Amino acid sequence: MEPTNLAIFASGTGTNAYKIIQHFRTNPLVDVKLIVCNKPQAGVLEIARSEGIPALLIDRKEFYETTALLERLQEEDIGFIALAGFLWLVPSYLVEAYRGRMVNIHPALLPKFGGKGMYGMHVHRAVKAAGEKETGITIHYVDERYDEGDIVFQARCPIEPEDSPETIARKVQRLEHRHYPQVIEQLIRSHTGGGRRASQKPTLPFSPER
Ligand code: GRF
Repeated sequence: MEPTNLAIFASGTGTNAYKIIQHFRTNPLVDVKLIVCNKPQAGVLEIARSEGIPALLIDRKEFYETTALLERLQEEDIGFIALAGFLWLVPSYLVEAYRGRMVNIHPALLPKFGGKGMYGMHVHRAVKAAGEKETGITIHYVDERYDEGDIVFQARCPIEPEDSPETIARKVQRLEHRHYPQVIEQLIRSHTGGGRRASQKPTLPFSPER
């Protein structure tokens, strides 16, 4: 059975990308084929180099005004896309082509603390300032708006009074690393039934943790 080719879109440190790459190293279901990045200095590019995964640095104008990236993804036969620290809004030509086959991870419990500008420590500071008793992660399909696509999975962790935005960030990161690769695997399994290409949005393979 041919593996599904996965592209990871990431423009930050790349710790989630690294966990995903490691997860699928020994898994014949998925081939991590390409890292797509929009920041020349991003840590994820170093990870791509050391892991031997091709990386594509994209240009903003080309991303929004041409379909060159989609053509590249099609040439590479990419069947599924995982966003992991990719901050640009995904243009509709790409959402359309990969609807139900492109997910994002957000470091909070959407629909709270999402939207433009809500990324990284901005999220954890806002969560702390709001006096939340818990936070967590949300994995959702990507649509034309920031952080609004259908939710696939959530996991939660408590916030103690002594937690700072930094300790909250660490708790959330642990959840991301534990769950994101597994959820991607589940989604690809349910899409493809093990085959090469996903064609439509599946019914959820598991109940989101609530
Ligand atoms: C993660 O917190 C993820 O939720 C968000 O971007 C961050 C990426 O972190 N979308 P890393 O680069 O994978 O360490």
